[in-house]
Amino acid sequence: MKAMSANDLAIVILAAGKGTRLKSSLAKVLHRAGGRALVEQVLRACAPLGAKKTIVIVGHQAEHVSAMVEPTGAETVLQQPQHGTGHAMLVARRALGKAKLAIVLPGDAPLVRTETLRALLAAHRAGNASATILTAVVSDPSGYGRVVRKSETKVGAIVEESQLTDEQREINEINSSIYCFTLDRLWPALAQVKPNNKHREVYLTDAIAIMASKGETVLAQVAPDAREALGCNTRADLAEVDRVFREWKRNALMNAGVTIQLPETVLIDPEVTAGEDTVLEPGVQLLGKTKIGARCTIRTGSVLSDAALGDDITVEAHCVVAQSRLDDRVTIGPFARLRAGNHLKAGVHIGNFVELKKSTVGEGTKAGHLTYLGDAKIGAKSNIGAGTITCNYDGFHKHPTTIGNRVFIGSDSALVAPVRVGDGAYVAAGSTITDNIPADGLGIARGRQVNKPGWASRKRRELAAAEKPAKKKPARRRARPRKAKKSRRR
Ligand code: UD1
Ligand code: CA
Repeated sequence: MKAMSANDLAIVILAAGKGTRLKSSLAKVLHRAGGRALVEQVLRACAPLGAKKTIVIVGHQAEHVSAMVEPTGAETVLQQPQHGTGHAMLVARRALGKAKLAIVLPGDAPLVRTETLRALLAAHRAGNASATILTAVVSDPSGYGRVVRKSETKVGAIVEESQLTDEQREINEINSSIYCFTLDRLWPALAQVKPNNKHREVYLTDAIAIMASKGETVLAQVAPDAREALGCNTRADLAEVDRVFREWKRNALMNAGVTIQLPETVLIDPEVTAGEDTVLEPGVQLLGKTKIGARCTIRTGSVLSDAALGDDITVEAHCVVAQSRLDDRVTIGPFARLRAGNHLKAGVHIGNFVELKKSTVGEGTKAGHLTYLGDAKIGAKSNIGAGTITCNYDGFHKHPTTIGNRVFIGSDSALVAPVRVGDGAYVAAGSTITDNIPADGLGIARGRQVNKPGWASRKRRELAAAEKPAKKKPARRRARPRKAKKSRRR
């Protein structure tokens, strides 16, 4: 039944405009809010309606917009040049084929929800209307077209901001630019629309008054949440819309059992998941496809993108984690940086000022301080001393470092890759290791220490003796100006 009713339906998304008011080189609908491009958000809201066809009108940066929407199965139609929202519909006519109904949406109003579109469509069908407009009642209607009702249920016209009478300016019901049209009634009305405005554009909104004047039914459906009508014409609009999306996402995670402290400060992308009793401290960002297990704590200022975390993990303050996998009970930070391609196995501890890249760290291994591990494979229960550096780059190529199980790397060691340290081996602190170390062996690579008894006091006497003659000279030079000063005071 549901699929049958969608068979006569098409979706048209108007996305050809430039977005002049954004002052941007990027087309408006490619700007992002809530972690996705505006047009992508609109497409996602429409997808569950199961329309037979989805058409996106493209114009400005048509190639880029098409590249974004075509993978979703939507068809694109080029509107070049852009002569207004009504003109955009005329351009789409041929592509609409046999569709009887169309839901038309602007590509810049991304907060609309699927349920609201369903209700709009249901009202349109039930009222056998020519057009049904999604409207919103707002406290500040400036910038939007106003809905002029001719009766309690029926609409007479939509009047654009620039054409309002003083009386109409007081109307606080706005046009969201989201409509349902019965297409064989829209085309004749659109044919009568004249570009009587300062931009000489064919306004889709003007077709409404024409339909109404013919006695056709034009209905208005008020959006349950006025924010669904928010269009992104300016950077401030973008920020507001982004804020709403982020709030919805945080609420969804909180409902799923995640604690979020000072939620307004926490930014979470739409595809992120987190398990029960995980705690997100203020100022955390969870980006991309980050997945977090249960009972984790992500402390303040940490940024995780495309990270996969198991359960019971602690990410201390100010860590940066990208494209890395952390197994259960790992602890990292504060101030740890995990670049792409790491796998930290269960119970690993990575401490402050440690950077990792494309490294695998075995169960229970610790690297507590000031270390760089790149292209390294490290076994279980090893200890990487403070200041250990894998020298993985020779200026031309990257090379691997392999460290076994239960290895002890002394502090301030440089491991010049490619190099292997066998199971249970030791590296003496301060070594520069260039050769493999066998299992259970000690690698020590540094100058042997020499102690010279009494050397320090001999040196101090020597230096003091050298200072004496040098002191006399400046003293004699100062003598004359001092006498001169005295004579002046008298
Ligand atoms: C439009 C409505 C206004 C409504 C508001 C809601 C018109 C004339 N006005 O105004 O009543 O309150 O939306 O947000 O429709 N576009 C094209 N081709 C064009 C022109 C525009 O595809 O030739 C697209 C734009 O890319 C945009 C959408 O249509 O996604 C709306 O255009 P925009 O210029 O933002 O219209 P508003 O001035 O916001
Ligand atoms: Ca707009």
